[in-house]
Amino acid sequence: MRHLMSPLDFSVEELDKLLDLANDIEKNPEKYAHRCAGKKLATLFYEPSTRTRLSFEAAMLNLGGSVLGFSSADSSSAAKGESVADTIQIISCYADICAMRHPKEGAPLIASMKSRIPVINAGDGGHQHPTQTLTDLLTIRSLKGRLGNFTIGLCGDLKFGRTVHSLIQALIRYPDIQFVLISPEELRIPDSIRDDVLRRNHQQFREVVRLEEALPELDLLYMTRVQRERFFNEEDYVRMKDFYILDKEKLKLAGPDMMILHPLPRVNEISVEVDDDPRAAYFRQAQYGVYVRMALILTLLGLEGTVC
Ligand code: CP
Repeated sequence: MRHLMSPLDFSVEELDKLLDLANDIEKNPEKYAHRCAGKKLATLFYEPSTRTRLSFEAAMLNLGGSVLGFSSADSSSAAKGESVADTIQIISCYADICAMRHPKEGAPLIASMKSRIPVINAGDGGHQHPTQTLTDLLTIRSLKGRLGNFTIGLCGDLKFGRTVHSLIQALIRYPDIQFVLISPEELRIPDSIRDDVLRRNHQQFREVVRLEEALPELDLLYMTRVQRERFFNEEDYVRMKDFYILDKEKLKLAGPDMMILHPLPRVNEISVEVDDDPRAAYFRQAQYGVYVRMALILTLLGLEGTVC
């Protein structure tokens, strides 16, 4: 039995296979429509979510399986003080696989240690969001045609943004990627990523404050929102929240093929006028999230079969 806690839980070869499977699912959905008949996915969400929870549920339904779960800690027995270690032992009696989001870093890992079914980390605090990374990798590979040989700008809340932490860890395994880390001083990437991931792996990166300075050199721009729920006080959040706003005027500084990604939800950091720009790929990115989660469920349940 395998769990998914971090994108590094899969080797590059395994990731390639998973992304191939996701592409095959996109092209031939009918082939997979009954692969999970009789199987159940539990979604245990102790934090709000739209995309991750509902795309997991759509993924399992597309595979012919069923779903059960809760969408907030308040509507589960966590409100009465039940631990995730106890909860997962119960869920193991009811479901075949589980996706868990939790505000505490490491909570899905603790659950996985007590689980009799595969546990997928659907986001743990400011730590990791591996299935968003799978979505990002599939989007980049499908739309750019390659994973590697590009300059990517990661912009916004790099301190608390778990999607950025997971994505950097995944991308350093691919060749010739240059990272431009764009953030205000207060929201710089944590030392655990700068030193232990980027520097330790001799990765090329630089840190800048101004988005305008970075835009002309980017092949990809990964925007993120300021993570209000991780701030200790509202005043700091209000000061930071509109630090970056990508609009049509700023986009004139970017190349004609620069792809714009965002894990979503967006607040103000991408103006809605950008949505019609052909470089905006963030809504297509959300669609890729369904295909890659279908591929992940099949893989962890050992039902992936042969990709033709
Ligand atoms: N990208 C993402 O995790 O979105 P949700 O918080 O809506 O799940």
